[in-house]
Amino acid sequence: MAQGGYHLSINDHQQDLRHLFVGLNMPVTLSGGEKPLINFDNAATTPPFQTVLQAVESFAPWYAAVHRGGGAKSETTTRLYEEAREIVADFVGADRDSNVVIFVKNATEAINKLAYRLAQARDRRDIIISTVMEHHSNDLPWRSKFRMLYVDVDDSGRLLLDDLKKKLRLSRGRVRLVTVTGASNVTGHINHLAEIADLAHQNGAEIMVDGAQMAPHLPVYMKGSAGSGSLDYLAFSGHKMYAPFGTGVLIGPRKTFDYGHSEIVGGGTVEAVSQRRVRWAKSPQRDEAGTPNVMGVIALTAAVKTLKHLDMSLVAREEAKLADYARKQLSHIPKIMFYGDQENHNYKVGIIPFNIKGLTYDKVALDLAHEYGIAVRSGCFCAQPYVRKLLKVPPSEIEKEFTGTDVTYRGMVRVSFGLYNTKSEVDLLAEALDSISAKTSKTITPQW
Ligand SMILES: Cc1ncc(COP(=O)(O)O)c(C=O)c1O
Repeated sequence: MAQGGYHLSINDHQQDLRHLFVGLNMPVTLSGGEKPLINFDNAATTPPFQTVLQAVESFAPWYAAVHRGGGAKSETTTRLYEEAREIVADFVGADRDSNVVIFVKNATEAINKLAYRLAQARDRRDIIISTVMEHHSNDLPWRSKFRMLYVDVDDSGRLLLDDLKKKLRLSRGRVRLVTVTGASNVTGHINHLAEIADLAHQNGAEIMVDGAQMAPHLPVYMKGSAGSGSLDYLAFSGHKMYAPFGTGVLIGPRKTFDYGHSEIVGGGTVEAVSQRRVRWAKSPQRDEAGTPNVMGVIALTAAVKTLKHLDMSLVAREEAKLADYARKQLSHIPKIMFYGDQENHNYKVGIIPFNIKGLTYDKVALDLAHEYGIAVRSGCFCAQPYVRKLLKVPPSEIEKEFTGTDVTYRGMVRVSFGLYNTKSEVDLLAEALDSISAKTSKTITPQW
C-alpha cells in the first residue's frame, strides 16, 4: 500500500516499519565488538519518527513568533500552531467546541497545571481520588492542594474498581476529580476508563486521565460513546510518541480554564494590564505564558499524523502481538520472576517488568547494556508505592527508605516496546538474559 508518503502497511512485519524511525541501529562498542543498539526503554522516551524530523526541517524557514507578529512567516507559524490544536484534539476524540487544547512541556507539567487550576476553585472539603498505581507525576501535584484518597490494587497490580466504588460512596459527593492512569508505566495494565469515568460522573466528580503510556499505544476517544465513558481531562507527552521536541498536551473543558489563572503567568496571557489590575485572556492563551515551543508543536503534529495514518487500532494490535511473543520467550529464562497480572494478558500495553532471582535489578540492566547493547530501565520507574506493592516490600523496609539508615532500594527491570521493535530483537534479549541468569550464584539474592 503506498499512501500519504509511506510505502507499507502496518500489517507487514515490524521490520518494515523501521525506516519510519531515526537512529534505530546505532552502533555501540562492547567487549565483544560493535553491535547495533537495541532499545527496549520506550516507556521512558521514544526515538523520533522520520516524519517528525522532516516536518521540523521543512517548517524551519517559516519559523517566527506566533499570534501578534506581522508578516507571512508569523501568519504561517500562527496558522500551523493553532491548527495543531485541532489535529491533536481529533487524534484523541476530544470535542473541540467545549474543550481547550493547551500545549505544555510534558505530561508532568500538564497535570501540575490542572492541579493548580482546580485548587483555585476548590472547596476546602474537596477530595481527589487517585490510585496506588500512578506515576509520581499523577500523584505529587495533587497532594499539596487537596485531600487525597488512593484506590488500591489487587495482588497482581490490577486496579480494584470495588475500592473506587467504596471510596466514592463514602465520600458522599465531595470527590472533585478521579485521576487515573490510562495504562501503567510499570505493568502496562490498561485501566477500564469508560467504567471509571461513569462511576466518577454518577458521583458528581470529573475524571482526569494520565495518557502518557496510553496515547502512543492505544486509540483514545475522549467523547466516549452512547452518552457513556467520556473523559473530562487528558494529559500526555510528545516524547513518548516519537516527537521528542519538548511538547506535552493538556485537554479539558474550556470552562475550567477560563476560571482563575495559570501557575505561570506573564507575556501572552492577558487581555489588559494596569499596575493594579489584570484581565486574563481566554484559554489556551491564558495558559501558555511566554513564547511557546512552536517547533515542538510542529513535531507533535507530525507524529500524530503518522500514528493516525498507521491506525491506532492496528498499532495496538501489533504491539500486543510482540509483547505476547516476548512474554513467551522470556518465560523460558531460568529464575525469571514476572510482576503484574500473569493470567490475563489482554488489557496490557507492551511493558514487561521482571527480576532474575539471585541478581539485583541494576546489575541485570547494566549487564544488558554493557555486554549486549540492550537498553532497558531498572528501578521503581517513578512509581514507588506501586512497585513496592508488587514486590511485597515489608513496611519496616519501607520505613528505612525514609529514615535513611541501612537502606536497600528495591526495584525491577522493565522492558517496554515501541512500534518498531521486532521479534528478532526479542530473541536477542532472551538469549542475553539466559546468559545473565546463568551467573546468579555469584551475587546477592534479593528476598522479594
Ligand atoms: C504513566 C506516566 N505518567 C506520567 C509520566 C510523566 O511524563 P513526562 O516525564 O513526559 O512528564 C510518565 C513518564 O514516564 C508516565 O509513564
